Amino acid sequence: HEHFNANKPLKGKKALVTAGPTQEPLDPVRFISNHSSGKMGIAIADALANAGAEVTLVLGPTHLSATAQGVNTLRVVTAADMFNSAEAHFNTADIVVMAAAVADYRPRNVVDKKIKKGEGEEMVLELEKTKDILRTLGSKRPEGQVLVGFSLETNNEKEYALKKLHEKNLDLIVMNSLNDTGAGFNYDTNKVTLFGRNGDVKELPLKSKTEVAKDIIAAITGIVHSRET
Ligand code: CTP
Ligand code: CA
Repeated sequence: HEHFNANKPLKGKKALVTAGPTQEPLDPVRFISNHSSGKMGIAIADALANAGAEVTLVLGPTHLSATAQGVNTLRVVTAADMFNSAEAHFNTADIVVMAAAVADYRPRNVVDKKIKKGEGEEMVLELEKTKDILRTLGSKRPEGQVLVGFSLETNNEKEYALKKLHEKNLDLIVMNSLNDTGAGFNYDTNKVTLFGRNGDVKELPLKSKTEVAKDIIAAITGIVHSRET
């Protein structure tokens, strides 16, 4: 039985975090992406490392980086790259937090020469679904692993978040509401609600992403320790 360390409650644990956007290329100069900066996920990776965990951060394209010691960052570009990197570290992780804003669709055909402007006034882009990393890996997660997802919504957020919590086989979902001012993409602050599989609901006030990350880590630590006793 390991000695409980109040400063490093996650010492000896391995964690996997996904963060940032993905970029899905169309041709050598263009891609489809979103406004994610990776800030929230990076703050979670740092907070997990500060709590003593050994962290692998699978990070989509962003100019930001993790700063805590104990975070090993793997930079990826596409949803397919992110899937492969996450899958490689999934089975050995005690804690998994998927905070990435993964593109849901990618161009069906990627061409190796720049697409030229045509004569017509319209151009139709054909897209195909990317793999849902969280759902795919969550469906075969190892016993005892704590699995956390995010839910970004603009409407019906609670209903959608609870649906994702159950459909993706999660222990905890962090609901982000884009309606709140000061919350979400590119802000340093965020307003989230945590929904546990056990029915726990915790609505947090608007605070810095670093503080939000600490609250999320506290919830995760609670789940980890409840399983050990
Ligand atoms: N996610 C993922 N792989 C994807 C899409 C989403 O791992 N291809 C993860 C995200 O990292 C997040 C959770 O699934 O933790 C929910 O993402 P979100 O975009 O809110 O939900 P979706 O399931 O993609 O559904 P929709 O975008 O239609 O709301
Ligand atoms: Ca999505």
